Amino acid sequence: MPPSVSISVSVNGSGHQREVEPRLLLSDFIRHELGLTGTHVGCEHGVCGACTVLMDGLPVRSCLIFAAQADGCELRTVEGLADGDTLHPLQEAFRDAHGLQCGFCTPGFLMTLIPFLAENPDPTEDDVRLAISGNLCRCTGYAKIVDAVLLAAERARGASAGLLSIDPDPQPVEAV
Ligand code: FES
Ligand code: FES
Repeated sequence: MPPSVSISVSVNGSGHQREVEPRLLLSDFIRHELGLTGTHVGCEHGVCGACTVLMDGLPVRSCLIFAAQADGCELRTVEGLADGDTLHPLQEAFRDAHGLQCGFCTPGFLMTLIPFLAENPDPTEDDVRLAISGNLCRCTGYAKIVDAVLLAAERARGASAGLLSIDPDPQPVEAV
């Protein structure tokens, strides 16, 4: 039996404390230990971006990080975007602009774009294409995804500040 490591993380505002094997990937921790299967695993090599989550506000490839490395961190997954049945505005824009087909890549795109749009609320098409250049989609050819991002940014500029942000001050890490 390999040694285990005790970790505490906040995921979408809820605290979790677990004993994990040192070799357990963060993507597997999120999917199999926490049951948050919205984080998808495509390549497991850091290439496709499907497994992207936010770690302390920054997008990371959860297939390239051990769960033990997330100890004490604040994580956000795609499940943390919607407010109950109300989609996050970026999710709405993806739906409205037909930015998804099979949806496999979508969580990774969304979690990549949340911090991008927070930093760059008025992006050009080229900005958006650069921002998503590390995310692979096998279905849509990217045009509709770019449209969706520009639509979300346009809607956010016409609405209250922070429309595209997510809660910047989540609950502290607590054991459950
Ligand atoms: S599954 Fe992590 S980058 Fe592809
Ligand atoms: S929507 Fe199918 S892989 Fe992107």
